[in-house]
Amino acid sequence: MSKLVRSPAWQALAAHRKKLGATSLAALFASDPSRARALTVEAGGILLDYSKHLVDAEAMRLLAALAAQAQVPQWIERMFAGEPINGSEARPALHVALRSRDATFPAGHDVMTEVRGTRERLRTFVEEGRRGALRGASGRTITDVVNIGIGGSDLGPRMLTRALRRFHKTGLRLHFVSNIDPADLEATLTGLAPETTLFIVASKTFTTAETLENAGRARAWLEAGLGKSADLSSHFAAATANVAGAAALGVSKERVFPLWDWVGGRYSVWSAVGLPVALAIGMDAFEQLLDGARAMDVHFRTSPFERNIPALLALLEIWYVNFFGAQTRAVIPYSEDLRELPAYLQQLEMESNGKRIDRDGNETDYDTAPVVWGAPGTPSQHSFHQLLHQGTRLVPVDFVIAYEPAPSAAQTALAANALAQAAALAFGNPTPGAPHKALPGNRPSSVLLLARLAPRELGELIAMYEHKVFVEGIVWNLNSFDQWGVEHGKVLARTLAPRLLEGGDAADLDASTRSLLARLRKHD
Ligand code: F6P
Repeated sequence: MSKLVRSPAWQALAAHRKKLGATSLAALFASDPSRARALTVEAGGILLDYSKHLVDAEAMRLLAALAAQAQVPQWIERMFAGEPINGSEARPALHVALRSRDATFPAGHDVMTEVRGTRERLRTFVEEGRRGALRGASGRTITDVVNIGIGGSDLGPRMLTRALRRFHKTGLRLHFVSNIDPADLEATLTGLAPETTLFIVASKTFTTAETLENAGRARAWLEAGLGKSADLSSHFAAATANVAGAAALGVSKERVFPLWDWVGGRYSVWSAVGLPVALAIGMDAFEQLLDGARAMDVHFRTSPFERNIPALLALLEIWYVNFFGAQTRAVIPYSEDLRELPAYLQQLEMESNGKRIDRDGNETDYDTAPVVWGAPGTPSQHSFHQLLHQGTRLVPVDFVIAYEPAPSAAQTALAANALAQAAALAFGNPTPGAPHKALPGNRPSSVLLLARLAPRELGELIAMYEHKVFVEGIVWNLNSFDQWGVEHGKVLARTLAPRLLEGGDAADLDASTRSLLARLRKHD
């Protein structure tokens, strides 16, 4: 049995979960009239109501003890001190530096000079874009920007560009391409003109097959439209930690915006990888996003567990995953503009904590990250909510509601639906009339209220989820900052592609892959 499972805090939680098994959310609310208020926490523009979770004061006390036992506060300080907490790659995880305003940070190995320098270069570039001063080879003003990237070099900027749609300044249209399937780029380029299109090639490593393939196709498209002899450098920019790799693709030095090996891809939207967002909303608004994230950093670093939103969300997830056997968590934003949030969180949470080997190299005997999934409400209600209400599985839900100070009728309808769903999950329908109509209730959810769907509040929200993932990783004794699980598949794909094209020896392959390869080759 692992040290974690044997630990007093874990064992106490297991015992308490058995005790709580007999109670219901309705009973918990009935026994404490102040429950809704007591289990609501606010930080900046975010309010978390976690009263509809299957916890009592004792459960929360024991969960806080688990976090203390895992030394979460000490690990937070280690992260902010720039210690190499990404052990398998011997690197710090310093995404917090990207939103810092400190003159030097962290103590001892300052990165702020580089961070500030890049921010200033981004500002100049973004302002040129906004003024219409970015021009293509023929001298015409750039009107469309296509971000080519995948994973962390795509999902964050894609999600935020969409979420901040109402803050877009007119001028530049943003597009995103990630799939190695040419259909992605082809569909995006339909209706765009080579003369007025700029490509941002975003890749931390600049070795990612999908991105390099799409960058090559983009170049071919430009050449076909502008002529082989055209100088294409004005049609490319790059965000990368591999400056030499970008130069090799022909991106001019002034257009390469660096990031660093101490930023994980899925934590990089605050860096030059956020360039599409900055081009869409302007650099001042982008800095508000950073400000929001920084405010959440302060909240996370200074608040005790019982008022610490990221820590509370992490501990609640641990509660369900490890003591109720929950396999998944749904994220349902009641906002069409937040429609990409579940996809963004899938990478952040599952690539960070989808692991079964702990920091000491041992296999865990407890579950780690759940499957994160979701879609925007209200369409989700007419799709998968049936299972949430009456299915056999326990699926904790994050309801995310953006409620503006002067809400429109449409926003009111969205919020009403979200609250109705959360209440129906928690309390069911007391007089269903017939068993098949019964909603049993007792199904937990968090309600996350965003004061506005605006840059600062989104910065807070995303940093909140980053820190939630961090706390989970610490308690589960994982390195949340590597992703070795995706490497092997990349290597295999590289060896299979030539054999699909040209045939050749397949003796090293398993029988299933060998037979599928043979079947696909018969199409030739
Ligand atoms: O394959 C997974 C991954 O390594 C992610 O962690 C990363 O965000 C993505 O690929 C893209 O990597 P890069 O930015 O280096 O192209």
